[in-house]
Amino acid sequence: MRVGILTGGGDCPGLNAVVRAATKSLMLEYNAEIVGVEDGFLGLIERRTRPLSYKDVSGILAQGGTILGTNNRANPFKFYGRGGADVSDEVMAYYHELGLDALVALGGDGTMSMCHELEQKGMKIIGVPKTIDNDLRATDRTFGFDTAVAIATDAVDRLQTTGQSHGRVMILETMGRYAGWLALYSGVAGGADIILIPEIPYQIEDVVKTCQQRSGRQRFTVIVVAEGAMPQGGSMSIAQVDPSSPDPIRLGGIGNALRQAIEQRAPELEVRTTVLGHIQRGGSPTPFDRLLATQFGTYAASLVASGQFGRMVALQDNRLTSVPLAQVANKTRTVPRDCLMVASALAVGTSFGDPTLRIPLDGLGDGILAQ
Ligand code: F6P
Repeated sequence: MRVGILTGGGDCPGLNAVVRAATKSLMLEYNAEIVGVEDGFLGLIERRTRPLSYKDVSGILAQGGTILGTNNRANPFKFYGRGGADVSDEVMAYYHELGLDALVALGGDGTMSMCHELEQKGMKIIGVPKTIDNDLRATDRTFGFDTAVAIATDAVDRLQTTGQSHGRVMILETMGRYAGWLALYSGVAGGADIILIPEIPYQIEDVVKTCQQRSGRQRFTVIVVAEGAMPQGGSMSIAQVDPSSPDPIRLGGIGNALRQAIEQRAPELEVRTTVLGHIQRGGSPTPFDRLLATQFGTYAASLVASGQFGRMVALQDNRLTSVPLAQVANKTRTVPRDCLMVASALAVGTSFGDPTLRIPLDGLGDGILAQ
C-alpha cells in the first residue's frame, strides 16, 4: 500500500504529531510506503513529493509547524499560479502516477472543501481536522486549538498583572477568523472581564460602562476580543485582502479600533492593546493536542486500511469517529450564543458587551465542555 500525506492551509501545533502517528501506524501495522507531499496542495500541483521514512517522522511529536511545509493559497480548482485556472485534472494525473492508494490531508475547512471536490474526481482521500480556530463542522475539537488557547490564556494572565499595576484597560486581540472559540476559551480560562466574539456583536457604550465601573473598583479591566468581533450595527475589521487566496479576507485591527472607541468615550481611561498574532500558531503542542493528534493520525490510518474514503476524522462527544467530507465542505462552526461556556462566563460576571444577553442557569441542563 502507498499512501500520500499532506498538510494544507495555515499551520498549527500538532501537524507533525499527526504526520508521525499516521506514518508510523501505516508502516508498522500495514507495511505501507508513505509519500510526503510538500507545501500542501501546491506540492501536488507542482509535483513536489518525497518518500517519508520511519526516521523522518521520529522525534517530531513535540515539534511545532510541519516538516512537510504548507500553503494556504493553493487551490487545484482555482490555481492562483495560473490565473485562477482549474488544474485538478493535472493533480489527479500526478496522484495516479505516484501510484497512491490513498491520500491523508490535514487541514481546515478550505482543505476539507478541496478534499471533497477531489474525492468527487475519484481520489481516495481522508481528511484530518486541524486549526487553532476550532471552527470545523462535525467535530467538537480540531487539533491545535488547545495549544492556541493555552498561549492566549498565558497572555491574558500576563496582561492582568501589568494592567492591575497601572490601573489600565488591557485589550488582547486573538485570532479565530469568523468564530469566537479561541477568544471565548482563553477569556474564560484567563478570567477576562469582557469577552467580545463575532457571534455576539457588542454595544460599545456597554463595554465603556463596564470599564468605568471596574476602574472605580478594581482599577483595571482585561478585554479579550476575537479578530472577527464587531460592534452592533458595525462590521468586522479587515486587515488585508489577498485575492489569490481561496479565503481572501485577513481579519485584524479590532483591538486598536476598540481602544480608540473606548478612549474617545472615556478619556480618563488608559487603554493598551496587544495583538497576539501568529504566536498563537507557533511552537510545541500541548499534551492534549499531542494526544488528540496521535489518535487522529492513527484513526486516519485505520480508515485508509479499511477502505473508508471520502471521510474526515472527527471527535464527537469524546469518541473518535468519521463523517463524510460532504458534511464539512464549505461550512464552518461558530459559537452558539446560548452555549454552556458563554453561560458559565456570564454566571461569573463576565461581560460580552451586550446587556440583553441572559442565559438562565436553571434552563441549562447537562452540557459537555466543548458546547
Ligand atoms: O485559520 C487560522 C488563522 O490563524 C486564523 O485564525 C487567522 O485569521 C488566519 O489563519 C491568518 O492567516 P495568515 O496565516 O494567512 O495570516
